[in-house]
Amino acid sequence: MSEGGRVVVVTGLGGMGLAVARRLGPGSTLLLADVNSATLGEAAHALRAEGQRVVEQETDVSDERSVASLASAAMEMGRVDVLVHTAGLSPVQASVEAILRVDLLGTALVLDAFASAIAPGGAGVVVASMAGTMFPQEADLERRLATTPTATLLDLPELSEGAIADQGSAYGLAKRANQLRVRAASVGWGRRGARVNSISPGVISTSMGAAELEGTSGQLMRSMVARSGTGRIGTPDDIAAAAEFLTGPQSTFITGTDLLVDGGVVASLAAPEQLVGSATPVPSRSSA
Ligand SMILES: NC(=O)c1ccc[n+]([C@@H]2O[C@H](COP(=O)([O-])OP(=O)(O)OC[C@H]3O[C@@H](n4cnc5c(N)ncnc54)[C@H](O)[C@@H]3O)[C@@H](O)[C@H]2O)c1
Repeated sequence: MSEGGRVVVVTGLGGMGLAVARRLGPGSTLLLADVNSATLGEAAHALRAEGQRVVEQETDVSDERSVASLASAAMEMGRVDVLVHTAGLSPVQASVEAILRVDLLGTALVLDAFASAIAPGGAGVVVASMAGTMFPQEADLERRLATTPTATLLDLPELSEGAIADQGSAYGLAKRANQLRVRAASVGWGRRGARVNSISPGVISTSMGAAELEGTSGQLMRSMVARSGTGRIGTPDDIAAAAEFLTGPQSTFITGTDLLVDGGVVASLAAPEQLVGSATPVPSRSSA
């Protein structure tokens, strides 16, 4: 398919990906990618019904060939102005190994493939997590997570079988790596006249967010949200709005950085106890 117009690529058509596609799609051709064909089909159907021009491609972001094929398809369709990478797995959904493969390796593969697919003037956004901000790694490991070639990234000893205690630790490490690889990738993207940034969401009302709130860390997450500056869970559109800003004309001097969109959770962790004493309780289920 060769249309020649503006192309917006969205990976992951869960809660955030769908909200991003809704906001950024009009006026462009949307290229949607998800490993789950049912999720992909439903998203494409819903967006078409809203009048959007949509092409879908089943894609496993942890598979190099699958990601390369997505990038080629995007280039054939036209000018790849925007990439928003939301595909991912959370600690309650997946094993340590799957989290490293999809969240860490998958993001590195997407950054590599789209570094040569993005159009001059274009912009990319990778969805990381506030978990990455909350769990910085030791400086030497951070350097290696940022710069190790993607082909050998999973060979780092710190990522070997048994080296990571649990899914939550794997997720924090993978999401920190996302922030670091985006920072490193911004130089290469810049050589093409393109920008790339990450967004680190807090607790967002999607099926993933709801699953995490019901999981073993749910109570802790609820109390962190309750003591935050906003005292609320985020909506998928809170993230889509940030993605619109980071891919749009208001942010042309912003690249290689991370935007924390967490309702103030991380900031509140350092706040004096007396300021957060009257926090309001967060509902036990998200409303997504
Ligand atoms: N929801 C939250 O509270 C929250 C908080 C911080 C960060 N995040 C991150 O935001 C991103 C989007 O999360 P969401 O809340 O929209 O989740 P979601 O579960 O609603 O959507 C994620 C989508 O990714 C797809 N996916 C999973 N593995 C894939 C693979 N290998 N290849 C292609 N697609 C794959 C899933 O099929 C799903 O449609 C994720 O990276 C997640 O880690 C979410």
